[in-house]
Amino acid sequence: MTFKNLPIIICILLSLSLHKTESSKILFFFGLGSYSHRIAFQPLAEKLADRGHEVDIFSSSKPERPYPRVTEVLPGLFSNFKRNFGGPLSKSVLHDRLQDKFHDPLLVGNNMWDMFNADTADLVRNEDFQEWARSAKYDLIIYHHPGKPIAVALAYKMKAKFIAFMPAGASPMHDVEIHGLPIEPSWLPDWVQGSPYFLIPERFIYAYNQISWYLSFKYTHCSRLDELIKELYPEDDIPPSEILVRNFSLILLNEHYSTGYPRALPPYAIPIGGMHVKESTESLPQDIDEFISTGDKFLWKWEGDVPTNLPTNILAKKWFPQNEILAHPKCKGFITQGGQLSVQQAAFHGVPMITVPVWADQPFNSRSLNYNGIGIHLDLEDITKDTFSHAIQEMLTIPKYSNNAKLVSERFKDRPSSPVDTASWWVEYAIRHDTSHLKHPDY
Ligand SMILES: *[C@@H]1O[C@H](CO)[C@@H](O)[C@H](O)[C@H]1NC(C)=O
Repeated sequence: MTFKNLPIIICILLSLSLHKTESSKILFFFGLGSYSHRIAFQPLAEKLADRGHEVDIFSSSKPERPYPRVTEVLPGLFSNFKRNFGGPLSKSVLHDRLQDKFHDPLLVGNNMWDMFNADTADLVRNEDFQEWARSAKYDLIIYHHPGKPIAVALAYKMKAKFIAFMPAGASPMHDVEIHGLPIEPSWLPDWVQGSPYFLIPERFIYAYNQISWYLSFKYTHCSRLDELIKELYPEDDIPPSEILVRNFSLILLNEHYSTGYPRALPPYAIPIGGMHVKESTESLPQDIDEFISTGDKFLWKWEGDVPTNLPTNILAKKWFPQNEILAHPKCKGFITQGGQLSVQQAAFHGVPMITVPVWADQPFNSRSLNYNGIGIHLDLEDITKDTFSHAIQEMLTIPKYSNNAKLVSERFKDRPSSPVDTASWWVEYAIRHDTSHLKHPDY
């Protein structure tokens, strides 16, 4: 080889390295007892590992099948902490819903922060966690927002960038203050009440709700979080969490315009809803397959005792393969509480829904399905034999619901790149660049 070719070779090598992201050490910092959060982020973790990054997961739930290139950090640590999730909170929320009580966001907000703070306190007081948190080193942390906010202190300590991943999509308790997302109160329903507020008195309730979320975040949550951060890193001078939390590189929102609202999002907020959904590749278990192939039938997921006088056209079981059933051509409708992941799965397969929301993002999702013409919203306290069977009749007999569900399914799938490719591209973008050019100068 002569040296006269050297500049050409160097140019070729340089151009090959353009846009290539060096392998980074990435931590997924997730928690809470809900397995659904694991389902939401797992495809992205696997994708980034496939692309050559070193990926660790810190999560309260085990993977369905371990992925060889991904490492679980301190697995099993959370098994004692499950009590922090749901429990008292869901009971009180359910009670309020059944009583048709005004759903005071100050109470709901404080309840949620109580839950997140209790979970964080358990972590911070655990010796294994302390040891790990004081020595671990990553380039990037992708954390569950709002459930695992102590991640922002870990990131500060490690000099790592961080990305907020929101499994339930955007939520008003953080929208404006933390993430700078416009809430558009003139037409978007409130998160906790779920009802659209178009009348003057309702606008006041909306304003009260937004202020309440902000106050409960600032005074209930951040001050306690700061104490916990001090407990974890007593030697360090770490800025207040209220400041740290705004230093995100990006926000990944588990939502998509096809099932949600055409809301305005800033350039750093990336909707990546639907990473977990897929075509069905597995056949149904034989008993379920036989049951549904012999007539018009109901499948009922029910974890309690099955009533002995159950009609013969109902099959009740503790668990069903949801994706395979929603993909089945005989599936005509889905009755659900309206959690983001189930809603996206049904939308993907073009199945209309009846939603009976209970809490968290469910009331908001339920209204957005209504808005998109693919769902019938039912309030828990309004359910009677008549209202319920009326809703089922409507879903099955009014063609609008199944027709819209087919259209929404086409729109949900029609994107420039798949949700997981979009998410992984943006994560690498945030690794390659300082993203402050995407953010408001105050951030
Ligand atoms: C914000 O993040 C950048 C880069 O990720 C870092 O250099 C800076 O120190 C962080 N600032 C605060 C206050 O966390």
